[in-house]
Amino acid sequence: MASRDLSSEVSRAILDRIRKARRVSVLTGAGVSAESGIPTFRGAGGIWEKYDFNKLATPHGFMENPELAWDWYQLRQREMMKAQPNEAHLVIAEMEDHFPSFAVLTQNIDGFHRRAGSRNIVELHGNIWRMRCVRDGTIVELDSPVEHIPPLCQCGSIMRPDVVWFGEPLPSEAIEAASTVARESDVMFVVGTSAIVYPAAALPALTKSAGGLVVEVNVEPTPVTAYAALTLFGPAGEVLPAFWTLVR
Ligand SMILES: NC(=O)c1ccc[n+]([C@@H]2O[C@H](COP(=O)([O-])OP(=O)(O)OC[C@H]3O[C@@H](n4cnc5c(N)ncnc54)[C@H](O)[C@@H]3O)[C@@H](O)[C@H]2O)c1
Ligand SMILES: [Zn+2]
Repeated sequence: MASRDLSSEVSRAILDRIRKARRVSVLTGAGVSAESGIPTFRGAGGIWEKYDFNKLATPHGFMENPELAWDWYQLRQREMMKAQPNEAHLVIAEMEDHFPSFAVLTQNIDGFHRRAGSRNIVELHGNIWRMRCVRDGTIVELDSPVEHIPPLCQCGSIMRPDVVWFGEPLPSEAIEAASTVARESDVMFVVGTSAIVYPAAALPALTKSAGGLVVEVNVEPTPVTAYAALTLFGPAGEVLPAFWTLVR
């Protein structure tokens, strides 16, 4: 694939700031995994156009019919197992070696950043490869899709996916860690997120108001576009590698 030339879109001043940056973060959303074949939540072809999230991604819906919810999570685990991290995940992993401090703040539950080689990852919405006992909180890590539905804890109670559902708070350690990273970032890249799901959507503004540079990558404008120093429009798997070629 002919790689895109971004040299006319990116100023020298921005490149200099990124090269001199000591603390860098990347906030990612479903868009970074779109080119791996994982559908995003919103927008054309988004998951919530086809499924009823009340039944699948709320505590109440889950407890009403855990089998139905687990059928869906098992299907998603199978899809994610077959899919691969894409060029965007790989470049983000490569970037980690170039800065003294680097963190990936992800809203995704698919585990692709780790598979691509990223090490310092804050998972804001949990991970589909973990489940948690609804009674005692026991955590079980998975390396393949669940087999028996619904999966049970040793205590006999039902396990749920260890992901954040609608109406649930984010894990407090994760959002605190992410907020600290955001405030301290010299540069934050915001990749493939619609930036409308709070509190994750507030993180780029923390970077900006603390004097950091926000650089966005998305196929369309978002609320972040209004205050980002630069938005690169296009698919993350093309734009991010092309951009990184300019920087490094
Ligand atoms: N892969 C996953 O783990 C996954 C998948 C779907 C949704 N989610 C969940 O979605 C919720 C938050 O919303 P979000 O902002 O992450 O997703 P979202 O679906 O709301 O937004 C996706 C964004 O990605 C952009 N986009 C689509 N294709 C792109 C591409 N190829 N390159 C760059 N950008 C692209 C869209 O324009 C949109 O702004 C979170 O709760 C997250 O857990 C996760
Ligand atoms: Zn238990």
